[in-house]
Amino acid sequence: MKTAIAELRGRRVWDSRGRPTVEVEIRTTGDAVGRAIAPAGASTGSGEAVDLRDGGSTFGGYDVRRALYGIATEIAPLLRGRDVRDQRAIDALLVTLDGTPDKSRLGANALVATSMAVAHAAAAATGVPLWRHLAGDGPVGPLPLPEIQIFGGGAHAGGRLDVQDFMVIAVGAPDFATALDWTAEVHRHAGRLMAEAGRLCGVADEGGWWPAFDRNEEALEMLLRAIEAAGRLPGEEMAIALDIAASTLGRCGRYHLRREAEPRELDSDGLAALWLRWLERYPIVSIEDPLAEDDPAAFAAFTRAAGPGVQVVADDLVVTDAARIRRAAAAGAGNTALIKPNQIGTLSEVREAVRAAGEAGWAGIVSARSGETEDVTIVHLAVGWGLPQLKVGSFARGERMAKWNEGLRLAEELPSGGALPPAPRFPWGRG
Ligand code: PGA
Ligand code: ZN
Repeated sequence: MKTAIAELRGRRVWDSRGRPTVEVEIRTTGDAVGRAIAPAGASTGSGEAVDLRDGGSTFGGYDVRRALYGIATEIAPLLRGRDVRDQRAIDALLVTLDGTPDKSRLGANALVATSMAVAHAAAAATGVPLWRHLAGDGPVGPLPLPEIQIFGGGAHAGGRLDVQDFMVIAVGAPDFATALDWTAEVHRHAGRLMAEAGRLCGVADEGGWWPAFDRNEEALEMLLRAIEAAGRLPGEEMAIALDIAASTLGRCGRYHLRREAEPRELDSDGLAALWLRWLERYPIVSIEDPLAEDDPAAFAAFTRAAGPGVQVVADDLVVTDAARIRRAAAAGAGNTALIKPNQIGTLSEVREAVRAAGEAGWAGIVSARSGETEDVTIVHLAVGWGLPQLKVGSFARGERMAKWNEGLRLAEELPSGGALPPAPRFPWGRG
């Protein structure tokens, strides 16, 4: 057999924020190699699997020697000799070996890098691209519709704006490459307009412009102007998407906003009313985490009030966990799941989350984290598992562009070419 694990090793590499992270490399008995790197978030949901860090003072406490030790002393010996094609069995072994509900013993960073490296090794060993391996005998999805950040805010830009991500979606683009072309122009014009207005402070964590706006709505207005300056029709060709990341704004139904006129403290109804006003005023097709993770009833009320024309995305509330997605869907809290593999730990569990979303009639968006690397596994996940959207931050910096560029390469390989999901291309959107 040429598909058994001969060697599995972890190594410390570095992410886009200059922090240590875990890479796992697997070599099979047939000399195929699979490699993957764990990403890391900044505005993490409290229900996420644990990203194991050493603490202490070295590298701000973010070192990963404990995670690497677990890989070397427990994971590698357990997996040696296992067939890399048995993803489910290997993932089940990893979950059992860890033995905690939140992966806090071995770390979700160790687990996700291992699990993704297994998939890469299996694809390499069987001589197929990763997207094909992930799809198995099933159908392969088209390329996902990109959701791309233009301004960063919240935890990604020192709290400069209350809202974390101001993004665009090229809802009217005929194909993946055109979606990127249009976004490149919006991104460029947004930077130019901000510089002219004296509002440009640099680049935020995920590559979006770091804005010096005084009010959240200035970002929305600037975004509209950038879309128009790029020659695109707002709403029809280029729509706006937001990630509020409301869990960073407050707890227990009390939210604090710094970039709104009085009152700056809002309850759940007040916050929802603010977003509903924005939905009226701007061509917003998607809004993520509009309420905090501990406010599911208000999340559900907002989803109802926004109506079926708006994609309401649950991230911190469901953390790529099938059981949580089922619960949120039953309560009507959201209509779309954000899918981040490191929130749960193994690819098989991610797959379950995707399945739970599908069974609930929810759409799915595969997402990167704020701490990223050159790893492009998630692009293959979106295609192989037929997830219709992809969110990886902005249109700048290598760790972001690596994903968009991988999509362009896949456009040449896929049976569907560069096609985007068929109409209605944007399942919940008005675009
Ligand atoms: P994070 O943010 O990766 O910093 O958690 C991304 C998001 O909230 O979607
Ligand atoms: Zn989010």
